[in-house]
Amino acid sequence: MTSLALTGIGALVTCDASIGLGPLGIVERGALVCEDGRVVYAGPEATAPLGVDECVDVAGRCVMPGFVDSHTHLIFAGDRAAEFVARMAGGTYEPGGILATVAATRAARPIGLEYSARKLMRLAVASGTTTVEIKTGYGLDREHEASHVALARRLTPEATFLGAHVVPPEFAGDRSGYVQLVCDAMIPAAAGVARWCDVFCEAGAFDVEESRAVLEAGRRHGLGLRVHANQLGPSGGVALACELGAASADHCTHLTASDVDDLASSGTVATLLPVSDFCTRQPYPDGRTLVDAGAVVALASNCNPGSSYSISMPLVMALAVRECGLTVDEAVLAATRGGAAALRRDDIGIFAPGARADALLLDAPHPQHLVYRLATPLVSRVLKDGTWTGPSAREPT
Ligand code: NIG
Repeated sequence: MTSLALTGIGALVTCDASIGLGPLGIVERGALVCEDGRVVYAGPEATAPLGVDECVDVAGRCVMPGFVDSHTHLIFAGDRAAEFVARMAGGTYEPGGILATVAATRAARPIGLEYSARKLMRLAVASGTTTVEIKTGYGLDREHEASHVALARRLTPEATFLGAHVVPPEFAGDRSGYVQLVCDAMIPAAAGVARWCDVFCEAGAFDVEESRAVLEAGRRHGLGLRVHANQLGPSGGVALACELGAASADHCTHLTASDVDDLASSGTVATLLPVSDFCTRQPYPDGRTLVDAGAVVALASNCNPGSSYSISMPLVMALAVRECGLTVDEAVLAATRGGAAALRRDDIGIFAPGARADALLLDAPHPQHLVYRLATPLVSRVLKDGTWTGPSAREPT
């Protein structure tokens, strides 16, 4: 058994309003005690059980749960900088651009894909992300998707099969043949390896009935459901996600009033990906309306080479506050507990007894500074499952 206590915490952000003050559940002069990778105490230092193997005085820093990034596409080769530059000059985002990454990814060596995905994960940790979901979706044939699902699973327990990202070129004249391949061969192969099945339900990708077939096949094979929904227009994806009980409807940029009602009254989390709206020059999703309606909102990076080549959750939070109408506290909760809810997890994104000891030490008095001091690296140390991790793992506090 190994145990660790963090003491001298200026503001301990528990993300549990029943433990501390305000929506973030803040305990001033707090302590966090972990045993075998789990939180055993989060509360005032004065009453903390401090008979532990290691005790670290964090010198007044703020300590908060690590970010939960519930939507990324980290398995890819190449980049699409030229597309980004063209969009910044007035061009539009087209789902067809995904095929350029499919070609580059199919041509890449598996070891190179793993190397670059791990590199992005190290950047994620450095900016405070301690849990990451990873989708496939740039293989789009049996062999590559199976290999990418296995890679995603090596990198995270939150591996998602996204064979229905777009129709690959070899099936250009046979959409239904590709949907059938996904449902009858690729999903059964992904089952037991991936945790989730996702579909890009959008004009230019898959329509509602094709998406329904994919999601129902995923469900038959024991996969949880996620949907890329209403990114470029009111695609019907949100209604489908809510109807099928998907864990999350992601993007939610173009919502009807009935989509908002569906999200508010279902267990489907509305996951906002505002860096993609920035990079595609789309309007931003209306997070304010979703929160006010009672929907659970998550924030995620959507890191991918086409629409959002950044893995920084502080940047996501800043855009969610400035452009989606969330308060800073709501953005912090959406990047932690919201992401956890989108992955149907209650052991991350929160400091409560039994939760994983995934913690960030901030060189700042409050998480507000992550948004306020835009693009400033404020995460000084990261704990993952109670162990120091990331570039500063061996630095003193
Ligand atoms: O979530 N929408 C579909 N998938 C990604 C884009 C992937 C790409 O353009 O390569 C997204 O934005």
